[in-house]
This record gives sequence, C-alpha cells and structure tokens, in this order.
Amino acid sequence: MKILSKNGNELLLLAMKEDSAAKGDYLLIEDRNRSMVVQVYDEEYLSSQALIEDIVKEEVVNASSMENLHDPLNIGSLSRLVRDARVFRAKIRASVTDGKLSSDVTWLPSRVESKIRRITMKELDSLLGRCGVFPIPVGRASHEEEFEIYAEDLDGKLTVITGKKESGKSHLSKMLIKTLVQYGAFVVVFDLNNEYGGLGWSRAGVPSSINQQIKVLEPGKTLRFTLDYCGKTAISGMLKNALDMPAASLREFLRIWDWCESKQSLSIDAIGNAVNTWNINELVRDALVSRYHVIQSSRLFINGERGLQFEDIISGKSGAAMIINMGEISPTVRRIVVELVLSKIVDLLEHKQIPPIFLFAEEAHIYIRDTYWEDIITRMRHFGIYTTFITNQPDAISDGIYRQVDNIFLFNFTNDNDLDKISKVSLADNDTIRSIVRTLPQRHCLAIGKAVCDLPVVIKVAAAEVLMLGETKKFFTKK
Ligand SMILES: Nc1ncnc2c1ncn2[C@@H]1O[C@H](COP(=O)(O)OP(=O)(O)OP(=O)(O)O)[C@@H](O)[C@H]1O
Ligand SMILES: [Mg+2]
Repeated sequence: MKILSKNGNELLLLAMKEDSAAKGDYLLIEDRNRSMVVQVYDEEYLSSQALIEDIVKEEVVNASSMENLHDPLNIGSLSRLVRDARVFRAKIRASVTDGKLSSDVTWLPSRVESKIRRITMKELDSLLGRCGVFPIPVGRASHEEEFEIYAEDLDGKLTVITGKKESGKSHLSKMLIKTLVQYGAFVVVFDLNNEYGGLGWSRAGVPSSINQQIKVLEPGKTLRFTLDYCGKTAISGMLKNALDMPAASLREFLRIWDWCESKQSLSIDAIGNAVNTWNINELVRDALVSRYHVIQSSRLFINGERGLQFEDIISGKSGAAMIINMGEISPTVRRIVVELVLSKIVDLLEHKQIPPIFLFAEEAHIYIRDTYWEDIITRMRHFGIYTTFITNQPDAISDGIYRQVDNIFLFNFTNDNDLDKISKVSLADNDTIRSIVRTLPQRHCLAIGKAVCDLPVVIKVAAAEVLMLGETKKFFTKK
C-alpha cells in the first residue's frame, strides 16, 4: 500500500491486488521514528478519466475484433493491474512517537519512504494502555482476534446499544449482563419481551453458571410490594407520573395516606375504604376512585405479607440480575412498575442500603416518560444507577442524552434517517459511522466511546452459551 493523498484528517491509500483491508481495520503508517494510526472506513476503485477511457476502449476493441492482440511486452496485464487498483479511505486517528500514542497529528508521513501495515488489536491496546481487571469477552475484532471490553468502562457510565430490528442488540446486552453478574455486580433489567430469563439456563436446558443469581420478577406475582415498603414518596410519584393524578386529588390522597398511617392501618383496602367515605369534592373522589381501581387491578400491592424487598435479593449475594418481565402487562402497569422500582432503588441508594446498580432498559421510550430519561442519567447516575439503553429507534433518545453517552454499540442501520441521527450525535465522525454501519453484517457491531478508548472498533459478537430467548414467534415455520 502507498499513500496517495491527504484531505483534512483523511488519507487516501493506494492498494494493489494483493493488499487487503476490511472496513474498520487499523493500519500503522511507519515513517522513520514516527508512526501514524489510521482506520480504513471505505474502499473504492482508483478512478481517473484516462483509466475509464482505457477500459471502454478495450471493451470496444474486444467486441469488434476476433483476432488476438499482439502484445509481446505484456502490457495488457500491467494495464489490468492498474485498472484493478483500489483506494482505501482512512481516517487519521492518532500518531505514535517514542511508543506513546497522542492525538497530535501535525506531520505528514512520507509518500515514498513510509511503510504501511495492519496493526493488531493487541498492539493497539498496548499503545492505548487499554487494560482492566474485569474483562468482558464480547467476540472477535478484525482478522478473528479475540476482543474484550472491560467492566470498568461500563461502571458509572451511560451506554446505548442500538441497531435495526433483529440485529443482535439484546444478545449483546445479555452477554454484558451475564459477565457483570459473574463479577458480582447487581443488575436490574426492564425486559419487554420476557427474554432475559434465559440467562439462568444454558442452551442444553440445564441451569447455567449464574442460575442462582437470576431473579425473574413477574409483576402481580413475584413482584409485589407492601405500601409501607414503597413509601409515600414513591406512591405519590407513581400517582403523579404514571397515572396522571391532578394536584388537588394528590393532596387529598396524601391526607388519606397520613390518616391511615396514623391509625397504623396502611393497606390498599384501608385506602379504598377511606376514599369512599372521605368527605371530599365528588370530582376529586372520582379521580381517586379511578386510580384506586387501576392500582388494585395491577395486583402490585400486597397486604399482610412481606412482599418483595430488593435488599433481600441483594444482601449477602455476590452479584444478581433482577429481571422484571414486562412483556405481558398493560402499558399503564408498566409505567407503574418502572416508577416504583426506580424510586425505591434511588431511595435505597440514597440511604446506602444497596451498592450501585446497573440498569438495562429495553425500548425505554415505551414506558419511561420523557422527563425521566434526563433524571436517570443525571440525578440517578450520582446516586449509582448506571444505565444501558437498548433500542431500535435511535431517534427516541433525545440529543441531551446522547451528549452524555459514554459508550455506543452500533449494529447495522440501513435507513438514512436513523443513520443521520446516529452519526450526528455519536462520539465518532460522520463518515466512519455512515460507511461502516451501513454495511455491517448481522451480529457485528461498531463499538464507540470509552470502552474502546475512543477508537471505533468493529466487533463480531460471539455466540453465547446461555439460552437466548427472544426470537420472534413465526406463524409459518420453515421445514
Ligand atoms: N452473535 C450472535 N451469535 C449467535 N446468535 C445471535 C447473535 N446475535 C444475535 N443472535 C440471534 O439472532 C436473533 C436476534 O437477536 P436479538 O434478539 O439479540 O436481536 P435484537 O436486535 O434484540 O432484535 P429486536 O429488535 O427484535 O429486539 C436471536 O435469535 C439471537 O439469539
Ligand atoms: Mg431485542
């Protein structure tokens, strides 16, 4: 390979037949004692007017004459080589001086002297100083090299996994969760397809290594709280945000709550009775009664028993995943569940009763109200909720959130609008995203951000040994 030209922070490299590089590969351009790290993001033919004319001429000659052309000097094969020459477009990522990587790239490598070779991920990692204590193997980088990210890079961070339908997003997030749990972390999953429960089982149907650490919580069955455990703040938050309770009715409700509490009879039934007999405006009573029925039919609250307590699942354990199955409940109940779970966890974190929590939210725009997003990533991050959003609609996440994202795992997108959105807001440059993401094969993703030290890497996500539920159910099955 040879350098052809430079344009901004982009190099054009001439590649002949035997030179190969895939999109996303890193190359090292060595020029005496300095070198430059570039990443290939596109491949084209070498095109000049003269070349195109040549090709056309040859085709015309071939078509119109049957005789063999006399070519004693074998110029034809040379010219064929030239016509097959390709150009790699590569982005300059960093320069290396005295074995140290820096982003200061103010020099130009020599076109004549410099040598270009592929750089392995291992070499790149040692240049970057990318290392950690808790590796998460995610698959393979280019040329079948094992690739891992580090759990530390998800810790305290905001991560987005996005890509079109069926591209492998949930698969990747399950791999992350599994390894996090193995390392002793606590994970809460809002599972919209009831698919994460498979983490407890291997593909052969026997319990997986983390079977004991997987707690599947079904709203109304295994996920039921006592009112006392939720507390007044969580319940009033739920009424206001998930059930749109007007302020006047909310005030009455809180009065009823206090009254029940003072009589030490805080229960759903006691509140129900009080709502019916309380001396209030009929409109307010209507508002209270309708919410009361929703709450009652959600079966989320329990009386006289202990109910679910997150501390029970967490304390004394080394790592657990609490998977909240939300596939079969109504949108309103979903919002109630999310509201209760999040506010209780924040409450526990505030009182330092539980360690930080990793939150994985699938298609969160469906059940998290807009204002809550910002809350989760700003306020809640300080308490210790580290979120990973998984979505196939990148435009459902607002720009404000993207600005705070630390890691993005991008699967294939072909839709121009989605590509536009993601290339505008993400941590890597527009050209790289557009060109690489558009042609990513299934189960491949482009990792961007802290986890890869801001050098985008194409990863072929590994298959997993745990049971991966979540396949789309089909009516017509292939024989
Ligand atoms: N790296 C992989 N190796 C093997 N199988 C995979 C891999 N990634 C995904 N799959 C399989 O491909 C299918 C789709 O993957 P997955 O459910 O993760 O996609 P998704 O992007 O979450 O889709 P959706 O948008 O429908 O939620 C699943 O059956 C999954 O098991
Ligand atoms: Mg999915």
